[in-house]
Amino acid sequence: MWKPPQRIKYQALTDAWPSAAEAANSALFKSAQWGNLQLEQRTWIPAMVPWRSNEQGEVTQDVLDWYARFAQGRPGAIVIEATGIRDIPSGPLLRISHDRYIEGLKQLVETVRAASDGQTRLFIQLIDFLSIRRRPQPDVYFQRYLTITNEHRAWLANHTDFENDDDDAQARHLLAELTDPELEQVLSERELEALRFGYRERVTDTHNPAIAELPQVLPGLFADAAERAQKAGFDGIELHYAHAYTMASFLSAKNTRTDGYGGAREQRVRLPLEVFQAVRQRVGADYPVGCRFLSDEIFEGGSQLDDACYFGLRFAEAGMDFLSVSRGGKFDDAKQPKVGWAAYPYTGPSGYECMPSYISDEQGPFERNVEPVAAIRQGIRDAGLATPLVVAGGIYSFEQAERLLADDKADIIGFARQALADPDWFEKVRRGHGEEVMVCRYSNYCEGLDQKHKQVTCELWDREQLDDADVVLASDGKRRLTAPAWQPRERSIN
Ligand SMILES: Cc1cc2nc3c(=O)[nH]c(=O)nc-3n(C[C@H](O)[C@H](O)[C@H](O)COP(=O)(O)O)c2cc1C
Ligand code: SF4
Repeated sequence: MWKPPQRIKYQALTDAWPSAAEAANSALFKSAQWGNLQLEQRTWIPAMVPWRSNEQGEVTQDVLDWYARFAQGRPGAIVIEATGIRDIPSGPLLRISHDRYIEGLKQLVETVRAASDGQTRLFIQLIDFLSIRRRPQPDVYFQRYLTITNEHRAWLANHTDFENDDDDAQARHLLAELTDPELEQVLSERELEALRFGYRERVTDTHNPAIAELPQVLPGLFADAAERAQKAGFDGIELHYAHAYTMASFLSAKNTRTDGYGGAREQRVRLPLEVFQAVRQRVGADYPVGCRFLSDEIFEGGSQLDDACYFGLRFAEAGMDFLSVSRGGKFDDAKQPKVGWAAYPYTGPSGYECMPSYISDEQGPFERNVEPVAAIRQGIRDAGLATPLVVAGGIYSFEQAERLLADDKADIIGFARQALADPDWFEKVRRGHGEEVMVCRYSNYCEGLDQKHKQVTCELWDREQLDDADVVLASDGKRRLTAPAWQPRERSIN
């Protein structure tokens, strides 16, 4: 992952844990209600893909164990990882793309209810994504993937021995022999990208009928998935409008579609609003539906905070029940992947902003998204709307969470990696055992596993008590898949 050049190292500091009585009096651990959304406490575990499903995208025992472990900590809400709405092979990504998934998802809901004693609300993040190929071997790219065009033929005729316009085999052979500077002359920008990074579809590829008709197709696909989530018993839906995926690409300043769904931000927000309306119509007025979107795309030419303030207000006006705000996580500045690997949208500066690590700049890795979220929230409040905002990014302590609520920066506090590092954070802090919390180091070891689509674990616990009777190991045989159980420390009375 990219790191800021300053390379300043930070450590999370936690010397101010509350007593049980202080926690009981805190804003963080009070129940709250905003319209359809009711939480037992203002804590939230944002979506995190742990790669526990199978090639069919089903809820496996590992998926159940993973979320049961989070639920034992009894956070206010858990958002199930990005879950695919299309019935297509998607590797081990969880899916909700057909009614056959409802039964497994129902089991997931029941598991979380039981493990949290009904204290945790359960949401599911619905995702659509476009196709992306792995970076090819150059010879394979020229032999198999590149479509030979008249531009290639003309360039080859002018610069090489290429003679026969009909001889694509010769053209492929000659192209494969060219140097990098020559390739930069003959290949288009997209062809070079396909060669160097792997081919990646964009929402602006409207010459492709499947991309052109996304605005007609996606509202129905999201609505079908939302209905399944409702049937499975989830407490609500989070529409994934963030990071590198289809809906975020519609919101992006890079979306130049000319069919009324791109260009000015009024048009870029149109499909996200139409998707929401289709979902709302299907699940009814009382069912919690919100979205996750970006406070900033964090690359040159991308959407920025003023766009996010505009989008946030439109979502709130449309009647979304919550807004969860992330930042960055884009393909546009991703590092070149190794041959045989796909580009990963968390490897550039925008990836750093999404999941900041302890090696940072003067600002440090903590709370980088707080002021942007506060600005989006203020715009919504100024319009007289009470829609709650979820903030996440480098939040690990009670003191931070409580301060952010007291200062009206956000309404709900998201702990992603901190919950991964210690799923019992919420119970430990609530019961006055804060000093037993395993504090996240922001090492991004977990994110490195995610990048390789390996089962995600945390370095703070995945080698602990490996010979426990009930321990389930990752497929590499070296790591436990869930955090060890918490045994509260006895306290002496005097
Ligand atoms: C392993 C891993 C998987 C993630 N998967 C998702 C995801 O499926 N959807 C999403 O919106 N964000 C995802 N994220 C981003 C987190 O939800 C969160 O926004 C980010 O980690 C910053 O918050 P934190 O500092 O509290 O960890 C993922 C993060 C990690 C570490
Ligand atoms: S591996 Fe653990 S400690 Fe490191 S960033 Fe992930 S959750 Fe935090």
